[in-house]
Amino acid sequence: IHRDYAGMCSWTADYIAKRIAKFAPAEGNPFVLGLPTGSSPLGVYKELIKKSKDGKTSFKQVVTFNMDEYVGLKADHPQSYARFMKDNFFDSIDIDPKNTHVLNGMAPDLEKECADYEKAIKAHGGIELFLGGMGKDGHIAFNEPGSSLHSRTRIKTLTNDTRIVNARFFDNDPAKVPATALTVGVGTVMDAREVVILVSGYQKARALRAVVEEGLNHMWTLSCLQMHPRAIIVCDEEATDEL
Ligand code: GLP
Repeated sequence: IHRDYAGMCSWTADYIAKRIAKFAPAEGNPFVLGLPTGSSPLGVYKELIKKSKDGKTSFKQVVTFNMDEYVGLKADHPQSYARFMKDNFFDSIDIDPKNTHVLNGMAPDLEKECADYEKAIKAHGGIELFLGGMGKDGHIAFNEPGSSLHSRTRIKTLTNDTRIVNARFFDNDPAKVPATALTVGVGTVMDAREVVILVSGYQKARALRAVVEEGLNHMWTLSCLQMHPRAIIVCDEEATDEL
């Protein structure tokens, strides 16, 4: 628990940088990092960009897999998650663009796209650290309430709540938010060797209580972390209001 969002972000960026430094040179293998979009990781991305620019952290040996993507938005659409990642992170660090993976929401065969994504993660040896955020209803990636806790990467219909929350990026019009998305499953997140989740603000306090203090429940999909051997929730004091 950190006092505020800035504290959360600098701690998390330091933690990720240390994990990359320890892993990559020692093993000579790429460090496979799972990444989210949304407001929560923005401060962490800013801190990691600083570390890359200062030469303190290199992403040359890092391979990334993003959590999710809207169906029907081109990669260069201003609200696509592919574009978000380029604008807010990838274009500002020393990562090889070939090593960044984002689901393609325009793929002609979406089921194949999802199955291929799972295969690609496995082919890279699995995800070492999955960084994530949490929706106000306790969802992880786009695993909306009611998602199977064993789910894999798939197409998911977004709830009205999620479309209303995300309308802030689509002219405040929920109808303009795509109705479906591709998302890694709860099972895909659980397979990562470590999961680090960022939770900031009192709007997330009720969900944080449900996820941490109530039982494992597919209506609050982030509660899956209760079963993970190595999971960290990094939050600010506001988010802990209901604990
Ligand atoms: C979306 C994303 C999630 C993210 C959530 C919360 O639903 N698919 O991955 O965690 O929003 O976003 P924010 O961090 O902006 O609150």
